[in-house]
Amino acid sequence: MNDLAPLLTPEGRALLDEVRDTDPAHELAVATRLRREHPAALVSAALGQARLRQRAEAKFGAEDARRMFFTPDGVEQSTRASVAAYRAARFRELGVTSVADLCCGIGGDAIALARAGIRVLAVDRDPLTAAAARANADALGLAGLIEVREADVTEVDTAGYDAVFVDPARRGGRGRVFDPEAYSPPLSWAVGAARTASRAAALKVAPGIPHEAVPADAVAEWISDGGDVKEAVLWFGAGQAAPVRATLLPGPRTLPSRGLPDPAVRPPGRYLYEPDGAVIRAHLVAEVAEELDGGLIDATIAYITADEHRPTPYATAYEITDRLPFNVKKLKALLRERQVGVLTVKKRGSAVEPEELRRKALPKPHGRASVTVFLTRVDGAPTMLLGHPAG
Ligand SMILES: C[S@@+](CC[C@H](N)C(=O)[O-])C[C@H]1O[C@@H](n2cnc3c(N)ncnc32)[C@H](O)[C@@H]1O
Repeated sequence: MNDLAPLLTPEGRALLDEVRDTDPAHELAVATRLRREHPAALVSAALGQARLRQRAEAKFGAEDARRMFFTPDGVEQSTRASVAAYRAARFRELGVTSVADLCCGIGGDAIALARAGIRVLAVDRDPLTAAAARANADALGLAGLIEVREADVTEVDTAGYDAVFVDPARRGGRGRVFDPEAYSPPLSWAVGAARTASRAAALKVAPGIPHEAVPADAVAEWISDGGDVKEAVLWFGAGQAAPVRATLLPGPRTLPSRGLPDPAVRPPGRYLYEPDGAVIRAHLVAEVAEELDGGLIDATIAYITADEHRPTPYATAYEITDRLPFNVKKLKALLRERQVGVLTVKKRGSAVEPEELRRKALPKPHGRASVTVFLTRVDGAPTMLLGHPAG
């Protein structure tokens, strides 16, 4: 169905409530039963929407997702609620009271901005997506703050708004797009739009954006949530001193760049620290290494080693018990000797497949002990470091 309207009627809404918790395994039987009383197209639209809502729960939480409307692309491309809420709070801190949300999708960011008390013009050129954004503003009681406009963002006048936010589409006909100029609209257009904003602007980009592609007048912020890197944002006019930051959610905990040189390489100490992905993408491993009084185990690998355990939000600490050259037989013997039942494999700078190593080194549990093995290089040499989470 390429129209949301039938789902927004009383019959459509009642059907949506009825199919809400349908187990995908029973969908066919449920559809057959419902088609006796409702049009077939409406039944399949309701079941499809229920599936999208279930998928969206991970991003929006069950309470909101069950009331919202999605398109398949809209779920995939939307900003998760935690990240959108963080960004909306930053806009608020900057004194922003109105935002032109250019490329609003189904409204992930627009909803968070409105919930932060910000007036939003939400623009998307895709009719179904714009209809979903409008339905979401209504469903969540935010229609008074969100005006949805179906238009091409390049034709929208943003002069009446304090700030501009652009979240370009990063998927083309052949999947994910990596070249920022292949975004829709292209990054250069978004940067131009950001520079016209009267107070501030933010552009959401892929976390893999090369640092060289960040304009000199922007602050680049990499954001992770629960340890997974979600996105990078380029801020304009936000007046921050450091050109690069890593922000970890929940929190938020923000680490600004201090322009430190790469940390020195040193022999592994008692602790190994795995920096958060946002720290690594933002190239802020040196800032964390300094806080830990640590160094790198290899010049090209983002593992920090140190002699002390200093808890930090920016890296996960492991206490290292063994260091072996890479050798599966030796690892297997050691796991047997230590009565290991659970093996966690982590790797950086190794081509070995973690799952394959786990199968070979621990074909069956020997006992109840847990071990983490890091497949990595120590000053160039393929090495296995064994340990467990510290503290
Ligand atoms: C990444 S999604 C936005 C997701 C949104 N921030 C959210 O959280 O739900 C990008 C959107 O940009 C829209 N889009 C791409 N090019 C556009 C253009 N030139 N004008 C208007 N919308 C555009 C697409 O239809 C798509 O819905």
